Amino acid sequence: MSRKFLIAGNWKMNLTPDESTSLVEEINAVAGNQTSVQVCVCPPFTSLPVVSEKVEQTEVLLGAQNMHAQPSGAYTGEISAEMLRSLYVSHVILGHSERRQYCGETNGSINQKILAAIHANLKPIYCIGETLDERDSGKTMDVLSSQVREGLENFPSSALDLLVIAYEPVWAIGTGKTATDEMAQEAHLGIRKVLSEMFGDSASSSIRILYGGSMKPENAAGLLAQPDVDGGLIGGASLSAKPFCDIVEAAISSL
Ligand code: 13P
Repeated sequence: MSRKFLIAGNWKMNLTPDESTSLVEEINAVAGNQTSVQVCVCPPFTSLPVVSEKVEQTEVLLGAQNMHAQPSGAYTGEISAEMLRSLYVSHVILGHSERRQYCGETNGSINQKILAAIHANLKPIYCIGETLDERDSGKTMDVLSSQVREGLENFPSSALDLLVIAYEPVWAIGTGKTATDEMAQEAHLGIRKVLSEMFGDSASSSIRILYGGSMKPENAAGLLAQPDVDGGLIGGASLSAKPFCDIVEAAISSL
């Protein structure tokens, strides 16, 4: 079992194409030639074309932040898997808690997107995580388990090498509050156990589980040292090259 670290930047609704170009150029300069860890940037849709061109000759991977489950049709304002593929996008964040909260996404609707993504050979970064209320009332593992089971319903074992999970405790996103190393490890191990019940020990031990929620250079090394933490999904600290690349360096140093 060897799981390569994946450090992914979720730029959310930030950065124009020009700003995105500058940022990815800076990231390329530090991380564009190394293969020790995988690095992925996930700009907003409008920046995908320029960033795609910039990462083409580098080791940096390109991700999107969402997609529609249907391949085409009358879905105003939506983007299909094939459209992403045409821009050489390899990863797509699905089920982010902000989309669950503001756009009504559910485990069921996210499941449809995950199946559509793998059908198009896109790698879903499936986000799960509990709210503060759920944690405080002792429901963390129940919530994570339902999110994994329902979000991954009918996921074919043959496509498991495409799957990435991101554990993002909702209370840690954009708040500066990070899960402790022990809390992250406990949740990741619990998630892996559910994956193992669904897909078997061997498959489960090769699925990467990223941590997300106020990850920054100061706490990255501790989180990445946990045996079941296989990388990070980084929001705020991915919007400037220095902190993002410092997290990449922390991942490389911990190998
Ligand atoms: P922050 O790193 O800003 O807390 O965001 C995490 C996140 O939501 C990544 O998807």
